[in-house]
Amino acid sequence: MRRKRTDRVAQPRHDRGARHDRGGRERFGREARNDRGAVARRGAAEGEPSAFKREVSGGSKSEPEHAMAMNEAEHAHVPVLSDEVTFLLHPRRGGWVVDGTIGMGGHAERLLETAGGDTRLLGIDRDPEALARAARRLARFGARVVLRHGSFRHLGALATGAGVERAAAVLLDLGLSSYQLDESGRGFSFQGEEPLDMRFDPTEGATAAELLGRLSAEEIASLLGELGEERHARRIARVLVEQRRRAPLCTAADLVSVVKRAVPRAAWSKRTHVATRTFQAVRMAVNDEPGALAEALPQAAALLDTGGRLGVISFHSGEDRVVKRAFRSLAGRGFVELEPTPVTAGREEMAFNPRARSAKLRVLARQEAA
Ligand SMILES: C[S@@+](CC[C@H](N)C(=O)[O-])C[C@H]1O[C@@H](n2cnc3c(N)ncnc32)[C@H](O)[C@@H]1O
Repeated sequence: MRRKRTDRVAQPRHDRGARHDRGGRERFGREARNDRGAVARRGAAEGEPSAFKREVSGGSKSEPEHAMAMNEAEHAHVPVLSDEVTFLLHPRRGGWVVDGTIGMGGHAERLLETAGGDTRLLGIDRDPEALARAARRLARFGARVVLRHGSFRHLGALATGAGVERAAAVLLDLGLSSYQLDESGRGFSFQGEEPLDMRFDPTEGATAAELLGRLSAEEIASLLGELGEERHARRIARVLVEQRRRAPLCTAADLVSVVKRAVPRAAWSKRTHVATRTFQAVRMAVNDEPGALAEALPQAAALLDTGGRLGVISFHSGEDRVVKRAFRSLAGRGFVELEPTPVTAGREEMAFNPRARSAKLRVLARQEAA
């Protein structure tokens, strides 16, 4: 059992699920008791929380049948807010679920398990390796699953191309997966000597090394400040530009070394690696994550069927702001925010999946016709 990184939980899937479920129920129970939020109100209206418990207790795979998928699941990305996503987004009346960030297929698997056989799923990802892994994990659902390579920036066209006219649910779980961080070899982690690539889609666009090789010090500083909220953005940019005059940055370790030299030792955080914010900002810039999100949200909302729901999980305050503004601008124009105060992870989930600590889930619904 590997427990190298704090953001990886290498446990048998059913164990993780059990702990996860307890966390989710505990949290929802608390919300229900306080009568706060749409979850509790909706649950009460539909005779939950007992319904919630029933809905999240999906089936499990047999080892021999899914040996390869299980082997990958040993090291799998643990989906965040999985109970909450399942509860809020799984279609009650069948139809299409569009998972615009299928990743390792964790959320998709649970949505398919808890929805009826008349629910189909379109899974999209920029990373071809993520799609291959999701395909293996979801193989048992057969023709119910359709996968497409591409960016959710083109959500509308990808859906149309796959024959999806209306969706009962759309999910965007932003950022990167544990596979990309730990195993992709693309320099997402500050803990290795990997090439400084950071592209979700390694078939297109400039790598992190190329981007950092051509931007000016001012551009690098504003990128680190805006996307990473890095207080030492200017110093890091200055040291980086000095360094690249001597030799180009080629590996993740090269970037870590620049950050360590730039940030005064006394300012290093005790809780997070000193290069965390820089790596986040560079990754977001390489993949134009804010741009893709802003373009995707109106397309995702437009795709929703009446009663359909759009859920977005973000891990970054800037992205959460983009989602919040987009949802507020749609509210009252045929849409309603189900979770205007974003759903966050309970203490138990945070304890076993530190990635969940910064996760925020917002949900928008297309109103039923009057
Ligand atoms: C946090 S992971 C998703 C994990 C997934 N929900 C699960 O349970 O396994 C985010 C995924 O989104 C993908 N991604 C990021 N930006 C994307 C974009 N613009 N279009 C499509 N996929 C994207 C990444 O490649 C990654 O696989």
